[in-house]
Amino acid sequence: MSGGSVGATRLLVRGLAQVASPSGTDAPLRGEELRAVDVVERAYVLCEGGRIAAVGRERDLRPLPGEVEEIDGHGLSAIPGLVDCHTHACFEGDRVEEFALRAAGASYEELHAAGGGILSTVRATRAAGEAGLTDALARHVGWMLQAGTTTFEAKSGYGLDRDTELAQLGAIRAAGGVPTWLGAHAVPPEFPAADAYLDFVLEEVLPLAAPLAEAADVFLERGAFDAAQARRYLEACAGAGLTLRLHGDQFTEAGAIPLAIDLRARSVDHLESTGTGGIAALAGSDVVGVLLPASALFLGRPMPPARALVDAGAAIALATDFNPGSAFCESLPLVCSLACTQLGGLEPAEALAACTVNAAHVLARADRKGRVEPGHDADLVLLAADDWRYLAYHLGGPVVHTVIRGGEVAWSTRA
Ligand code: NIG
Ligand code: FE
Repeated sequence: MSGGSVGATRLLVRGLAQVASPSGTDAPLRGEELRAVDVVERAYVLCEGGRIAAVGRERDLRPLPGEVEEIDGHGLSAIPGLVDCHTHACFEGDRVEEFALRAAGASYEELHAAGGGILSTVRATRAAGEAGLTDALARHVGWMLQAGTTTFEAKSGYGLDRDTELAQLGAIRAAGGVPTWLGAHAVPPEFPAADAYLDFVLEEVLPLAAPLAEAADVFLERGAFDAAQARRYLEACAGAGLTLRLHGDQFTEAGAIPLAIDLRARSVDHLESTGTGGIAALAGSDVVGVLLPASALFLGRPMPPARALVDAGAAIALATDFNPGSAFCESLPLVCSLACTQLGGLEPAEALAACTVNAAHVLARADRKGRVEPGHDADLVLLAADDWRYLAYHLGGPVVHTVIRGGEVAWSTRA
């Protein structure tokens, strides 16, 4: 950094090799629009008061009067701050033991059915206490930031009791995340069955969770909640003013897509098992398909039918699913690499839109996040490359150089 001074409210990133931003003004982007990226070569971005004030070619930049902090962007390219619209980042402990068991042949569903899996993280998260949970979340949010994520959603769902669910939502909110109440993630051991657990959460937790959360989510899957139970949970949550989301078609097609469409959910997430009927139905709807290739990779599952979804006209987003069991991965750049190599060949432009503007749409923030354009929040990732497509190209590499959030440097490789 050069010419900086404490308290400057203007930040000029100049000399950038490229600025790349999804085209258009609408959200979510679909079809042809999903692959349209506006690229400005030899460019600058001016941030003012936490917003983007101007983007243009370096040669058109006129001297700026007054105090301006400058970043030298030579050799770098800028993209919008990444938006991770599906994480379970608020957890305590790890599942490294389970990871080793899975590597030796145990399956995720078997571990879950035997009281491990999600329920082992529930035990650790319940025991963490509010301070422990806040610390764990801060550590995870730091990892996400270093990977270029400037806006994140995180779900509860590792409490499954009143106090821990509320503590999770409070911690996520306090950390600046977008909180989703995943009150129907699993049935905790103190309840005999899913229906009895739902009686409890809807009566005793929903009224307190709804003011803290923006959305509600359910794990609609064999061994978790069936379609009738998911409908009951989601209808009650909609009645409390929450936006609806679903974990669906991860292992089996159990009715998630029709339910999502019927209830006008914002998204249905996973879709590793979605067939042709589900693809067509989703494409004809406003529900966004959120694809989580790191989770499919981590569990050795089939990848979701991304290419078919996009070609059929569905709106898609990409997210990490960051959690200790099925996707211990906080990196959206890695997810973009997987999208371009494992998801039937999404193009880098499609991957970029899917984890910026379309993800912002899932979080109801596309009016101010997900594009590098005047008026939007000044959230930028400066990539350590002169071509923005290194975002997906550099598989697992140190591609994030500097992260700017709200017009300030939030993390940088440059001391
Ligand atoms: O999205 N599938 C359900 N929930 C998470 C995993 C949570 C966990 O294993 O702790 C998911 O994959
Ligand atoms: Fe998930």
